[in-house]
Amino acid sequence: MSLKVAVQMDPIARINIRGDSTFAMLLEAQARGHKISYYTPDRMAQRGRDVFATVQPLSVRDQEGDHFTLGDSSRVNLASFDVILLRQDPPFDLAYITTTHMLERIHPKTLVVNDPAHVRNAPEKVMVMEFIDLMPPTLISRDLDEIKAFRAEHGDVVMKPLYGHGGGAVFRLTREDLNFGSLYDMFAVTFREPWVIQKFIPEVKLGDKRILLVDGEFAGAVNRVPAPDDLRSNMVRGGAAQATDLSPREREICSRVGPELRKRGLLFVGIDVINGNLTEINVTSPTGIRAVQRLGGPNVAAKMWDCIEAKRK
Ligand SMILES: Nc1ncnc2c1ncn2[C@@H]1O[C@H](COP(=O)(O)OP(=O)(O)O)[C@@H](O)[C@H]1O
Ligand SMILES: [Mg+2]
Repeated sequence: MSLKVAVQMDPIARINIRGDSTFAMLLEAQARGHKISYYTPDRMAQRGRDVFATVQPLSVRDQEGDHFTLGDSSRVNLASFDVILLRQDPPFDLAYITTTHMLERIHPKTLVVNDPAHVRNAPEKVMVMEFIDLMPPTLISRDLDEIKAFRAEHGDVVMKPLYGHGGGAVFRLTREDLNFGSLYDMFAVTFREPWVIQKFIPEVKLGDKRILLVDGEFAGAVNRVPAPDDLRSNMVRGGAAQATDLSPREREICSRVGPELRKRGLLFVGIDVINGNLTEINVTSPTGIRAVQRLGGPNVAAKMWDCIEAKRK
């Protein structure tokens, strides 16, 4: 089967192909004979009921410095595609949300992966709160008294922006930390949204596990160990990728979260687990496929395309 596929992503010239999951998806799509078109969100337009984009045919190669070729531009109705991969990176802001509204016009006749309405409804550190019994104690607020009370109860905490990503502005605060007041003030002027205060999990030094799920089923995992002088496990912050398996607790987490993801059309998702505590459900443009495969794990992109092809039959 050859599908007409479009990928909505950030400029392909700038991606790091060693770590980019979208790139892994595109390599696999091409190997299967699907026809790929490429566009950035800036090239979208809604005119009346229809959604258009100026797209270019794309071919990819697993070769650093020479990883893509783009053909001539043309303006097309996005409804003419079988599949659209919604894969631009956060920030998850109103620009992002606007693209989900546009894509909602054509889904599910054109299968948008992930379902745009559910992407919009599932910010990564918000949706996870549906599973509080799997999480560390967590507060979402910008209210000083609420935060003080939470710190008094839980001692060491992590403070981080609700719509943050890639480890940006993630702080650990000890019970006695004298910087709290200033940090509070700084968060209050920097972020318009409430933020996350979460019990600090000391075992984070052993890693933050990224678990990939395809249509709600476990598909692969990678452990990310922070650098010795950093709290943050994110690979973009120097976290080291390690091969890993799932513990019984992590299997339980997958079996609880998976069916919900499947129900919502969140076909490709990365959940994050620190010492058996679920902290994030990443639905916008989760990464990890390349690292899993490099460490000898399964080809998660192949599982994803198997699933998409089955849905398009
Ligand atoms: N509650 C916590 N306890 C210990 N470390 C944490 C906690 N929350 C976050 N971290 C560390 O900070 C990193 C980034 O936080 P995370 O919540 O994953 O936000 P982001 O969306 O920026 O990745 C994590 O990978 C982990 O290393
Ligand atoms: Mg994270």
